[in-house]
Order: sequence, then C-alpha cells, then structure tokens
Amino acid sequence: MRQSGNPRTFRVKSFGCQMNVYDGERMGELLTTRGMAPAPEGEEAELVVLNTCHIRERAAEKVYSDIGRLVKAGGATPPMIAIAGCVAQAEGEEIMARAPAVGVVVGPQAYHRLPELVARAASGKRATDTDMPANAKFDVLPERRRGGPTAFLTVQEGCDKFCTYCVVPYTRGAENSRPFSALIAEAMRLVEGGAREITLLGQNVNAWTGEDTAGRAIGLDGLARELAKLPELQRIRYMTSHPNDVTEGLIAAHGEVDKLMPFLHLPVQSGSDRVLKAMNRSHTADSYLRLLERFRADRPDIAVSGDFIVGFPGETDAEFEETLRLVDAVRYAQAFSFKYSPRPGTPAASLPGQIAREVMDERLQRLQAALNRDQLAFNQASVGRRCAVLVERKGKLPGQWLGKSPWLQSVLFEGDAAVGDLADVELASAGPNSLQARLLEPVAA
Ligand code: SAH
Ligand code: SF4
Ligand code: F3S
Repeated sequence: MRQSGNPRTFRVKSFGCQMNVYDGERMGELLTTRGMAPAPEGEEAELVVLNTCHIRERAAEKVYSDIGRLVKAGGATPPMIAIAGCVAQAEGEEIMARAPAVGVVVGPQAYHRLPELVARAASGKRATDTDMPANAKFDVLPERRRGGPTAFLTVQEGCDKFCTYCVVPYTRGAENSRPFSALIAEAMRLVEGGAREITLLGQNVNAWTGEDTAGRAIGLDGLARELAKLPELQRIRYMTSHPNDVTEGLIAAHGEVDKLMPFLHLPVQSGSDRVLKAMNRSHTADSYLRLLERFRADRPDIAVSGDFIVGFPGETDAEFEETLRLVDAVRYAQAFSFKYSPRPGTPAASLPGQIAREVMDERLQRLQAALNRDQLAFNQASVGRRCAVLVERKGKLPGQWLGKSPWLQSVLFEGDAAVGDLADVELASAGPNSLQARLLEPVAA
C-alpha cells in the first residue's frame, strides 16, 4: 500500500448504474472540498477510487485485475487505491485480505467518510467503513457544485423487494427516501449550476415518499410537480421504477406535468408468470401490460424501456417464448437484457435447474434481436415529429450538436445552437441508436 502522505490528486472511476455515477460525483466533490484536486487528463492520480458494481458476475474479479493494473502502472509510486461501491459493501473484508495494495474500503452508505479514511490510510493504517446508516452521508456531503445541462439527483436508495436473483438489497440496504426539503435544495443548486434536466434516481425511485412544506404526504409525482415549479428546470426524468410502486398519481402526472418527460423505465425481467414468481417479482406479465396501458392512456406517446433476464434457473424454452411474446406486445423504445448471473448469497443462486451458457447465449441473442427491431421501429416512427432537443454536447462533425429528444433518443443536428439549449427540431431520419434532425428555428436567447 502506498504510504507517502495525504494524496493531492484523485480520480474516481464509477461502474454500474447511474446511482454509482452520482455517488462518484459526490465523492469527487467531497475530496475537492478537502483540498484535493482531480488529476488532470492523462496524468496518474495519487488516489484512485474504484466505485464498483456487484450486479453481475466477474465484478469482483474485475476489481482485482484493475487493482493489479494500477499497481503495475504506478511502478515505484503506485497510487493509493480506495474500493467503493457495491463490491466494497459485499466483499470488503475479502478485498482487504486479498489485495494488500488497497488502502481504503468504503461502502455506498459510508462514503462521506472517505477523506478521513484516506488520511488514515496515508498514515499507514488501512481503513474500512461499510456501515449502513440510512441517509447519513447526505447530511455531511458538501453542497453540489456541478455544472452541465443534465444532472442526476438521488432521491431514494435501497431496496426491500428482494428479487431472488439480486444483490442490491444487500449492498444498498433498506428502502429509504431523502427528505423533500433536501431534494428541493439540491435541485436548486443543480439548476443554478446550469442543469436544465434532472433525472431523479432510486433503486425503486417510485417508492419515494415524503412530506411537502405544508406537511402533506406526497409521492414521486408530488416531488416532480414541485420540481416543475423551478423556472429554469425544463425536464424531469426518473429511474428505475418498480411495477408494484406505480401509483395513480404518477400515471396522471405524465398527462399533466409538461416537464415530466414521456419516458418510462419499468423493468419486467420475464414474460412468464412462473418465472416471475420464482424471481419474487410480485407482478404478473398481465398486470405489467395493464399498467403500461394506463400510462399510455394518459400519455399516448410515452416511450417504454425495460430490463430483462434470460436463463433464470429453471426457465424453459416455452417460458422464454413468453418473454418474446411480451416484448411483441409492449413494443419497447429501448431495453436492457442480461444473462442470469448467480450472485453469492442470493436465493436463486442455489436453485436447481441452472441454465447452460449456450442456451442463455442463444436466448439473449433472440431477445436482443427482437428488442433491436423494436428500437429501430420506434425511432423510425418518430421521423417527422417536431420536438425539442436538449443539447448536451458538440457532435463529431463541425457545426454538429448532440442532444436528447423527450423520448431519450440521441439526436444529431447542425446549426446555430449551444450546450444547454432546447433546440426545436424536426426528426428527419432514424438509425437504431440515433436520429438526424433539422433545426427549425434559431434558438431563442
Ligand atoms: N431496481 C431496479 C434495477 C436493479 S439492477 C429494478 O428492480 O428493476 C438492474 C438490472 O440488472 C435488473 O433490472 C436486472 O434486469 C439485472 N440484474 C439484476 N440482478 C441480476 C442477476 N443476478 N443476473 C442478471 N441480471 C441481473
Ligand atoms: Fe434488485 Fe429487485 Fe430490488 Fe430491483 S427490485 S433492486 S431487481 S431486488
Ligand atoms: Fe451495481 Fe450497486 Fe448499482 S450493484 S447496479 S452499482 S446499486
């Protein structure tokens, strides 16, 4: 382990979900307020934080190989290595035992203590903190100072659903909502810093509950309605939602709150009720489809996204076909699909009927072909639509801009615009992953 005084520069590398990206940003902000600076591009950092993900297999192996690479690249002066995120939470002790190069292990609910842990490691004492005090970090973290047109905001953390395949309830702890006032304050800082779009994050974001300033109990829809009152904030998104936490209020908000974007990430995982039951999902294929119908009734153009797992233990060919049928019925605008990965300590890992790799490969290919087909079809059906694109950055070509449509599609266009603009465009042609558009009018200043 590196032991030559407090590091002066750092780099945070985040893997996994958007919440890890958010956590990584907050760790960076925290280290900056404690006198450290982000390492300049292309230069070695004196502290490297690996902010890890444990959701699928080989996560831990990847961490060990990253550690090995950092030690090798550092030569005589390797960086201090801190392991954060969900692998740290799940396997912190083992990492400390197996990887002497690691100075700090810190879990997702304890990273507000990172500077102290780093200082301790710099004085030669390796330091671990994987305590899980709900929300404690948010009381201690410095105010956000982030710039840029889009921002993440964690509103809810943790999961009580215990799907039988999933590690998140163990790595992130119990479901817990951040208080309304803290969220409004953080959103205001983000907007002051230039955010035009905020994506509300939670492992089950629609399980968020709180009290507004008048003391009324509100859900995610109430939070979105309040955030929509911030004049400079133009767009609100949220992810990931759970079918069981969908409320009438949330569905209605999609029809009523203009700033709430017509996009819904609602994972289903499987189209087979037997598999869903074995997964402990507590919804059926049919109840899921009916939920989507209700969203679509209030917001007909809503783009639907989802997550799928193929090859859950015991999944038969016929059950997999039911997933394909559900996909045909939904017509997803985009979706993520994964091969089942047995996670240590989860109930499904010890179920009989683990599926052979070749079978999973074949199912994943078929599922992805169907999902790709639908994504292209969704994009093609958008051609001719007029919409606003929130400009996120310059494109590769001169004069070209890249942004997102309301339906979260990547859109490229040329013309007079700037990062952070909401540019009015007509969608002109579509590929599987992006659309080309024509700028309709110069952007109003
Ligand atoms: N809280 C969200 C997302 C959790 S993780 C939800 O409930 O939908 C993101 C996705 O990873 C899951 O939706 C699931 O599709 C996938 N996933 C989780 N555990 C997995 C495992 N053991 N093997 C394969 N995919 C998994
Ligand atoms: Fe994991 Fe299920 Fe919780 Fe999502 S709802 S985080 S898949 S346990
Ligand atoms: Fe991965 Fe943890 Fe997110 S396991 S997906 S980083 S909650």
